[in-house]
Amino acid sequence: MTTILVTGGAGYIGSHAVLALKKAGYEVIVLDNLSYGHRELVEEVLQVKLIVGDTSDRALLDNIFITHNIAAVMHFAAYIAVGESVIDPAKYYHNNVTGTLTLLEAIVSASINKFIFSSTCALYGVPKFVPITEDHPQDPISPYATSKWMVERILSDFDTAYNFKSVRFRYFNAAGADPNGLLGEDHKPETHLIPLVLLTALGKRESISIFGTDYPTRDGTCIRDYIHVADLAQAHVLGLEYLLNGENSEVFNLGNGSGFSVREVIETAKQVTGKQIKIVECDRRRGDPPILVGSSDKARQVLGWHPQYPSLNEIISHAWQWHQQRHG
Ligand SMILES: NC(=O)c1ccc[n+]([C@@H]2O[C@H](COP(=O)([O-])OP(=O)(O)OC[C@H]3O[C@@H](n4cnc5c(N)ncnc54)[C@H](O)[C@@H]3O)[C@@H](O)[C@H]2O)c1
Repeated sequence: MTTILVTGGAGYIGSHAVLALKKAGYEVIVLDNLSYGHRELVEEVLQVKLIVGDTSDRALLDNIFITHNIAAVMHFAAYIAVGESVIDPAKYYHNNVTGTLTLLEAIVSASINKFIFSSTCALYGVPKFVPITEDHPQDPISPYATSKWMVERILSDFDTAYNFKSVRFRYFNAAGADPNGLLGEDHKPETHLIPLVLLTALGKRESISIFGTDYPTRDGTCIRDYIHVADLAQAHVLGLEYLLNGENSEVFNLGNGSGFSVREVIETAKQVTGKQIKIVECDRRRGDPPILVGSSDKARQVLGWHPQYPSLNEIISHAWQWHQQRHG
């Protein structure tokens, strides 16, 4: 059986990728320091080996690569809160860049050259055109986005110097939950719109804030591209197979292609949950572009990726099923 090391596999997207890898017949080992991840999801729900440790622990990494016959690494481990990265950039550069560099050095030393990286659409900055394609100019505007941009540059240099092959996936907004209710989103603190709206529906939060109602969009609120986490996970399996087939390094956007406004998300959540959701209208936040929608045509054409759950209703229904179980 081919063994894949998944860093950050106790987190939201990583745990869904572990599930998809298992379904596709891979053996999986998770490395997670549990700073934000959930032990029980790995050990009880997914039932795969969990190594509790940090990507900056070179001795631990060397030991993992000596003890296990790892074919490729999927790297989800990172800090993800954009706002926090502005207040504490050192935390983000240290973990997301230095931690990743240590991991990459250990991988190269172990003579492994296949790597899948969780990058972000945030590295495009304020879009100059939509839908955003992979060749859109890059202009990250937060330390979080810059940390991902830096790792992408490192990966490109590693390819040139060490023949190190990577697939870099630039996600738009990951959303939803495992359609069978096994896994879902549980960030602490939560900063993502759909879980915040659902926590409001559950009475765990008093209201949901809309930041800006005067944008040049169809209803005045920001439009974002929400991609179902199970579809993201499936793209990772396809990206892995692409590298295992000996293909070259590549970068792919992963998005839905359809944007939904903040008001549309809240309205859909009201329909799905049957609950009232109190809204508070606030001023715009600095740095929020009116529309962020990606083109994932390249992933469809090159990887044969076909998202199964593009509808906002389905994305929110699956998330609602999970939130009721987890927090209800
Ligand atoms: N959630 C999104 O919408 C989104 C969008 C674009 C990109 N991404 C990227 O996808 C990846 C996964 O995001 P997520 O939403 O699942 O986040 P998450 O916080 O749920 O998962 C990250 C996991 O990594 C672990 N971790 C963090 N630093 C670590 C380290 N140094 N060593 C070992 N483990 C460590 C955490 O404990 C956590 O389990 C991240 O790299 C993130 O930047 C996410």
